[in-house]
Amino acid sequence: MQYRNIVILTGAGISAESGVATFRDNGGLWESHRIEEVATPEAFAADPILVHNFYNMRRAQLPTVQPNDAHKALARLERELNGKCTIITQNVDNLHERAGSESVIHMHGELSKIRCEACKSIHLWEIDCLTETPCPNCEQAALRPHIVWFGEMPFYMDDIYGLLRSCDVFISVGTSGNVYPAAGFVSEVRRLGNAHTVEVNLEPSEGTSLFAECRHGKAGDLLPKLVDEILRLN
Ligand code: APR
Repeated sequence: MQYRNIVILTGAGISAESGVATFRDNGGLWESHRIEEVATPEAFAADPILVHNFYNMRRAQLPTVQPNDAHKALARLERELNGKCTIITQNVDNLHERAGSESVIHMHGELSKIRCEACKSIHLWEIDCLTETPCPNCEQAALRPHIVWFGEMPFYMDDIYGLLRSCDVFISVGTSGNVYPAAGFVSEVRRLGNAHTVEVNLEPSEGTSLFAECRHGKAGDLLPKLVDEILRLN
């Protein structure tokens, strides 16, 4: 089967082999932090210093980690496919881009950006952000991480549903299938069209039974093989 329009959903598992903590595995971020204390608008209103520190720490980790074989395989797929290949990522790291992927949609935001709640401007950001840091545009101290928190609407949803409607294969990589709307994408793909669906995850995800094909193991081992298979038929 030749694929001309590939959509790949990625989650924290694809960056695990780069040394970025996932959320729900042993040692995951939600074991050492309570979601309600660092990842909701209410948390930011109650304790902005704590929330900024959580994202400052994760932003500071970015230059210390490198894309792994899974990120590199997806970049190769985009480069060499005779067609369209889009990554929809729940990850807020920049490892897809650093591996060479160009068509990347960050539905949960990006650690390397910051947003002003006063003037709504968005800025590339590599350093720590403090509650008193002025917005580079309007100079008010109203910056927040450019991250979609629990209770907020993910970004680019119209574009994403358009992609889910038109793809001929949907591949989900390294996501536990616990967080909607991303956890519902596979059902949308099946409802909207005839695309093949593939799960690549360390272990069966919550939604594993919804996929036509499942490959369980490390993304860094499995994705280069899967990409080889797709490109061989290309
Ligand atoms: N290769 C493939 N899969 C892996 C690997 C690996 N090397 N390591 C871990 N995994 C799998 C785990 O088995 C798990 O199913 O990746 C999945 C990671 O799941 P979560 O930690 O729940 O991460 P994710 O699905 O991306 O979380 C979704 O939840 O808290 C929020 O906003 C945050 O975007 C995040 C969202």
